[in-house]
Amino acid sequence: MDDVDLIELARLARTHAHAPYSGFAVGAAIACDDGSTFSGCNVENLSFGLTICAERVAIGSAVAAGKRGFRCIAIVADTDAPVSPCGACRQVMAEFSPDLRILSSTLKGQTQEFHLGHLLPRASTGILNRP
Ligand code: THU
Repeated sequence: MDDVDLIELARLARTHAHAPYSGFAVGAAIACDDGSTFSGCNVENLSFGLTICAERVAIGSAVAAGKRGFRCIAIVADTDAPVSPCGACRQVMAEFSPDLRILSSTLKGQTQEFHLGHLLPRASTGILNRP
């Protein structure tokens, strides 16, 4: 699956967002090492802190299917500039792929590429005595 198709999957997933509180719909799609893909949307809750971002829904879905190695995650939102993932999602990405490729795209098609190692350096240093 190429970048354009992965972004399209994220765009489709965004249409399923449950975002009645923020009105901010986000879609994500993750490409696994074996070529499979999983998508997610943000799932908000009346108890706001329970909200799950689109990225973590996609990752959780992939992990539940037995996947552990990820190549790239695409994110789509209706913004002027591409969004970058929140800190919680960065840490969850780092659990599996410390230098995951991140493609973030606006609905109009402006795309920006990030690398997790730059967005979240030293994600595990010191935790449980990790180097
Ligand atoms: N959100 C995501 O799903 N992914 C991001 O990268 C940024 C934020 C969601 C969380 C919440 O439902 C809404 O967007 C506003 O923050």
